[in-house]
Amino acid sequence: MGIQNRRAVVTGASSGIGAATVRLLRAHGWDVVGVARREDRLQALAAETGATYFVADLLKQGDVDALADHLRQTGGVSTLINNAGGAAGMDSVEAGSVEDWQWMLEVNVIAVKRVVSALLPLLRESVAGAPTGTAVADILTVSSTAGHFAYAGGGGYNASKFAVTSLSEVLRLELSGEPIRVLEIAPGMVKTDEFSINRFKGDAAAAEAVYANVPDPLSADDVAATIVTMVEMAPHISLDLVIIKPVAQSAVYKVHRGPLEVKQ
Ligand SMILES: NC(=O)c1ccc[n+]([C@@H]2O[C@H](COP(=O)([O-])OP(=O)(O)OC[C@H]3O[C@@H](n4cnc5c(N)ncnc54)[C@H](OP(=O)(O)O)[C@@H]3O)[C@@H](O)[C@H]2O)c1
Repeated sequence: MGIQNRRAVVTGASSGIGAATVRLLRAHGWDVVGVARREDRLQALAAETGATYFVADLLKQGDVDALADHLRQTGGVSTLINNAGGAAGMDSVEAGSVEDWQWMLEVNVIAVKRVVSALLPLLRESVAGAPTGTAVADILTVSSTAGHFAYAGGGGYNASKFAVTSLSEVLRLELSGEPIRVLEIAPGMVKTDEFSINRFKGDAAAAEAVYANVPDPLSADDVAATIVTMVEMAPHISLDLVIIKPVAQSAVYKVHRGPLEVKQ
């Protein structure tokens, strides 16, 4: 199956990494369906790129079922990019709000499980009958370095991203023998318009401080370029896990601020 026959669903397409991924997939000739709740943004992205879109709240089973029906009726799907998600708060485990934890577990884990369950039959259909090595379907999930390394204040975000990392590992074992790749990209610090503002509940100063004086945090385009590389690898190659950070971020909690300079 050439790229011209491949159709990707990108969740969380209305901003940040998801929108950048839609743009780049379209530039590479993919058929793309963007999914999110905010229709005005999806509509503008569709007009700009030629992608189509489907409005869905992934926390609602009915919306996800409707997405699967829509895809079934409009050409299926070969590539699922689970990108929708987010963080709420930087509080300690002790002080963190239960509602924040519930939302993060819902959007970062349960929604991914729900979409995978609904779309797997269609992903299988996209590669059914293809001779071995000629085609592959993909389930790529955007986790986080927070899914691999704990940090103080990581709280429910760490817990949810560790969980979705486990989901990918389990799924890869369960799909053994099928022409379906289970891929994970775990970004470190990415400067997107909404992620930190949402995490700090609208406190723009706190959100901006995350990136203050960090030389070149990753951009949404950097992550999108890596996602597209992963799903465009030859069908026999699985980049199971890509951890991507800015050079200035040595660890999830160790970020250099100021210019990068060699030691004399
Ligand atoms: N930015 C970072 O530093 C960073 C680092 C590592 C990993 N990540 C991960 O990368 C992914 C994208 O992050 P981003 O920085 O691009 O964040 P973002 O700009 O806040 O985008 C989040 C996207 O998720 C969608 N979304 C949220 N809840 C949804 C729901 N219930 N149903 C459907 N869509 C929903 C939002 O669209 P609507 O509001 O329109 O629904 C939006 O398009 C997330 O999973 C995040 O955890 C980000």
